[in-house]
Amino acid sequence: MDRLKGQTAVITGAASGIGKGIALAFAREGAQVAVADIDTARGEATAQEIRQAGGQAIFTRTDVTKPESVAKMTQAVMDAFGRITILCNNTGDAVEARRSIRIVELTDSEWNETFDLGLKSIHNCCRCIIPHMIDSGGGSIVNISSIAGTAPAFSAAFSAMKAGVIAITRALAVQYADDNIRANCICPGAIRTPGGISAAKQGIYAGINNDRIRLIERFGTPEDVANAAVFLASEESSYITATSLAVDGGMLALVSNIPPRTLDSVPKRAKRPPKGN
Ligand SMILES: NC(=O)c1ccc[n+]([C@@H]2O[C@H](COP(=O)([O-])OP(=O)(O)OC[C@H]3O[C@@H](n4cnc5c(N)ncnc54)[C@H](O)[C@@H]3O)[C@@H](O)[C@H]2O)c1
Repeated sequence: MDRLKGQTAVITGAASGIGKGIALAFAREGAQVAVADIDTARGEATAQEIRQAGGQAIFTRTDVTKPESVAKMTQAVMDAFGRITILCNNTGDAVEARRSIRIVELTDSEWNETFDLGLKSIHNCCRCIIPHMIDSGGGSIVNISSIAGTAPAFSAAFSAMKAGVIAITRALAVQYADDNIRANCICPGAIRTPGGISAAKQGIYAGINNDRIRLIERFGTPEDVANAAVFLASEESSYITATSLAVDGGMLALVSNIPPRTLDSVPKRAKRPPKGN
């Protein structure tokens, strides 16, 4: 309790899954919370759940891929709470993993959607919110990447985007260290959320069933990720910046040992006849 007392947090994609878990945990630890999500019904419900439990929360409908929507959200949070000290960039989607497609089948819109939701969103939120963090004397940025950002994974665009989240986190830490802003990221493994389960079933890591590759024999929960986010947002991690923390039940240790050609669940394409035939 009270590990985030006096802090004001913006969490993107907080209407469900990991983002919702983080919003509830931040509020339980005393932070004022802004639930920024495109889904009004579920976003309002998350904010309501926090208020009913005695916390402080607002919902602000936000499309994180749109700069003007993020600017409006930032203004709404400033109007409600007067400061922002924590930013959790959580949105991201494994579209291609769910469809189990390779790069040749990946459409322009799927490519753009992946990078807009996972990376452009961070640019949009950081440029609006960091100036307010600086005005407040500093803060903490917690980005949600994935173990796909470091381990060999099936989905090309998703992996590249999540590697980008790790890179942008390090750059933010370097750029704003003198403003007393820390930036870290969390790399979840297979977490029990609507998005996570369907991606895991497709076997995003080297095309194998993710049920089989964990040292701790269960799916992770949004709370597992939220516990790490509270730590990284709080003063307990005041000497930690520019780092990535895997919350994956030990998956990363095992995926690096998977033989590279176990692609059983990947749809096979017919072999072309050799040239000249
Ligand atoms: N669940 C996992 O197993 C897992 C594993 C590794 C990484 N991650 C990452 O964790 C993060 C959260 O994943 P999740 O499984 O909780 O997802 P989820 O699908 O359960 O929730 C995503 C939330 O983002 C919101 N959203 C979608 N588009 C938006 C937009 N344009 N603007 C604002 N909000 C938008 C949705 O409405 C939803 O509330 C993602 O970045 C994901 O890549 C998840």
